[in-house]
Amino acid sequence: MVDFHSHILPGIDDGSKNVKESLDILKEMYSQGITKVVATPHFLARHQSVEEFVFERNKAIETLKESLNGVSDIPQVYVGSETEYYDGIGECEGIEKLCIMGTRLILVEMPFNLWTEAVYRNLMRIQERGFVPVIAHLERYISYQNEEKCFERLEEMGVQVQCNCTFFTRRMTRKKAIRYIGGRRINFIGTDSHDMKSRKPQMDKALKIIEKKHGYEAVEDLLDYSESALRSATVVI
Ligand SMILES: [Fe+2]
Repeated sequence: MVDFHSHILPGIDDGSKNVKESLDILKEMYSQGITKVVATPHFLARHQSVEEFVFERNKAIETLKESLNGVSDIPQVYVGSETEYYDGIGECEGIEKLCIMGTRLILVEMPFNLWTEAVYRNLMRIQERGFVPVIAHLERYISYQNEEKCFERLEEMGVQVQCNCTFFTRRMTRKKAIRYIGGRRINFIGTDSHDMKSRKPQMDKALKIIEKKHGYEAVEDLLDYSESALRSATVVI
């Protein structure tokens, strides 16, 4: 299984604080059946330039790589970003460096309110430039939108949707998550792991819930789709 959203690089954002924590998370992921993980550290254009972000990200990758020393029971690591939406993101220079390396996919953290026309226009602009926005944990902002209209517009534009494992594991949201899977609303699943405490990987539990409600085929569909999306992606670790 591919984990499309994680904060496993050490010391770069509010995720893993150090190499030990990164390794603990990666080992836990592997034991849950995750064979590929995309590291998506937060990128906030209001705080840093794309160049600064890439520099910090490369440093974190190197630090993690150096500490591995023959460790084999961890997933393959890919790298991208979780880019916070901002007005003007559609024209972002260097956007290709924020994409999952080797692909045109960019994970975008959206505004936590009703998305205006300007927001959709920015997403559209990203598309026009040949990149594909992937909405990070859509479940966090869908209640601010008119659900049907929102899905319609995203589908029209070819924007992809990622949801977190906790969307499935939390009792409060499970029903909706299952409904979205049935309606093929979700393209990618991510653990959004930050640590081994309150925000640890929960892929195994999420997949069990999907299998129980929709059968193993639904899990396989997700797996196949995410594998094919990463076909051209670069393995960094
Ligand atoms: Fe995240």
